[in-house]
Amino acid sequence: MPFIEWSDDYNTGIFDIDKEHRRLFALINDIYDKAEVGSAETSVKATIEALVDYVNYHFDREETLMDACCYHDTESHKLEHRRLRSQVEAYRTLYERNPESFDMADFIEFLIYWIQDHILQSDMAYVPYVRRRVAGIAWEASLQIPPKRLAD
Ligand SMILES: [Fe+2]
Ligand SMILES: [Fe+2]
Repeated sequence: MPFIEWSDDYNTGIFDIDKEHRRLFALINDIYDKAEVGSAETSVKATIEALVDYVNYHFDREETLMDACCYHDTESHKLEHRRLRSQVEAYRTLYERNPESFDMADFIEFLIYWIQDHILQSDMAYVPYVRRRVAGIAWEASLQIPPKRLAD
């Protein structure tokens, strides 16, 4: 059974975002599993690196989406991302410098708090806006179709 389980509460209904969030869950579970079974440091390090890379990838994509939809709260969301990027990066550096004294429990606790709080609060805040906007773009595009000519 995974350490943190996906539930419908995390569904944004935006296919790519949900896929990326699920990948973040999987990476956190990987880190937890490797720490639990006492995997080799190189293996734990590789998973932490994969998580850092994926966090940056996901945040970049989410920021592009919010910009494209002119989401009104993009700047504060980006600020939160910046904070999380640097925190996860700091944990990576700590692990690389000294894996023996690394506080894995603290790292896991941080990751869980972050994934729950950020997705459920901050990400969910843009969801209705972005979905409405995407629907609006589709609706505007449909206006490009010439109106049907009615029979005289
Ligand atoms: Fe976000
Ligand atoms: Fe997200």
